[in-house]
Amino acid sequence: MYDTILRTKEIFANANAVIITAGAGMGVDSGLPDFRGDLGFWKAYPPLKDKNLSFTEMANPQWFFSSPELAWAFYGHRLKLYNKTGPHAGFVLLRELCAQKNENYFICTSNVDGHFSKAGFSKDKIYEVHGSIHHAQCIHNDDGMILPMRESSVEVDEAKFIATKMPVCPECGCVSRPNIMMFYDHEFNPKRTWSQRKRYEAWLSENENSKIAIIEIGAGLAVPTIRKHGEALVERSKKATLIRINPKDSDLNPQLGISLKLGGLEALNQIL
Ligand SMILES: NC(=O)c1ccc[n+]([C@@H]2O[C@H](COP(=O)([O-])OP(=O)(O)OC[C@H]3O[C@@H](n4cnc5c(N)ncnc54)[C@H](O)[C@@H]3O)[C@@H](O)[C@H]2O)c1
Ligand SMILES: [Zn+2]
Repeated sequence: MYDTILRTKEIFANANAVIITAGAGMGVDSGLPDFRGDLGFWKAYPPLKDKNLSFTEMANPQWFFSSPELAWAFYGHRLKLYNKTGPHAGFVLLRELCAQKNENYFICTSNVDGHFSKAGFSKDKIYEVHGSIHHAQCIHNDDGMILPMRESSVEVDEAKFIATKMPVCPECGCVSRPNIMMFYDHEFNPKRTWSQRKRYEAWLSENENSKIAIIEIGAGLAVPTIRKHGEALVERSKKATLIRINPKDSDLNPQLGISLKLGGLEALNQIL
């Protein structure tokens, strides 16, 4: 492990650009649950165990039509949890790394919790591939307004796991929903995510000849968007190296980079 840490430090020292890619595991050391397997999900949401509903089943836009109180219990609970939780010290270490590289960085995350911007990263340098819980859209269409989500617009009766107050769509007066890409989602409004992606692609073009260190933290196997993205970047650019940080799902083809079988905060403490 000592050798791996030294090699990782060397990659950072030589890099002139940084991409931080992160999945739910990035939030675990802040005290947020990941949704690893049904058991992990049900540990975080016992009422959904009673209903035998998995994360994949719950993260489905149909609930906003058939049972909006249940849909908003789930997303309202998460909104409040992400709001009241602070990003862990590893975010600060990453901020310092980016400052050392003249702020030449981009973040690509499947997390919807907004914790990178809460930790002080520039909103213009974050690509939230699956959207954001801090933004709301109409349940009926993918082309309307995307507005900031106010925490006060949702109330959840935690004991019954139902929402007693839900945000309303200002365009049609129906209940609104988070601007998050769910499963089998035909109504997700992609406008905000697309504009982030455009900025990210422009940054990647500007950095075609940069030595990029890609740091992936806590990206799982169930929805492997983030893992595949980092691997594809390395395959595309000879000058990029991937550093995969994950205490369990740490497998990585050694030709693509280095893997650290550690929790996010512990790894960042050691390598930065
Ligand atoms: N905070 C959030 O925004 C949040 C939380 C849960 C799920 N989600 C959503 O659910 C989907 C789940 O996919 P996923 O792959 O991100 O999550 P996942 O729950 O499937 O996997 C989490 C990964 O984090 C790893 N992990 C656990 N503890 C860790 C730690 N201390 N440090 C680093 N890694 C750790 C696990 O080994 C696992 O590989 C995503 O699309 C995401 O949008 C978001
Ligand atoms: Zn509407």
